[in-house]
Amino acid sequence: MSEKITINFTVNGEKEQREAVVGHTLLRFIRNELHLTGVKEGCGIGECGACVVLLDGKPVNSCLVLAVELDGRELVTIEGLSKNGELDRVQQAFIDHAAFQCGYCTPGMILSARALLDRKPNPTDADIDEALSGNLCRCGAYQEIRGAIKASSGK
Ligand code: FES
Ligand code: FES
Repeated sequence: MSEKITINFTVNGEKEQREAVVGHTLLRFIRNELHLTGVKEGCGIGECGACVVLLDGKPVNSCLVLAVELDGRELVTIEGLSKNGELDRVQQAFIDHAAFQCGYCTPGMILSARALLDRKPNPTDADIDEALSGNLCRCGAYQEIRGAIKASSGK
């Protein structure tokens, strides 16, 4: 039988206590235990960014983090970005700029962009490229994605 550990954490502003299977990834825990399915699995080996979530405000590839590492930390998923029924500015800008096609990369892209703008409200093009360097878009919507992030800057 798989060993489980009790973990305490905050997810999208709510405190939670859950059992996490030792050895399971954070990605698997978020999708299967928390039932937050905005986060996606692409490569499973840290190369595509589809699984990005914010841990203590920093973007991480949740396929490379263990679920038990969530203990004592603050998790934000794409479901937690909108507030009081209003989309986050970055989410709205992605819609306004048609910054997606299939949408598979979009939650990870938006969370990486959110983390960048929290850290640097007026990023340069180079800052944007660097912040998104771990997020791949197989549809090639990079130009629109950059445009959406630029439009979300400085506010
Ligand atoms: S699924 Fe995690 S980086 Fe690709
Ligand atoms: S919009 Fe399809 S992978 Fe980015």
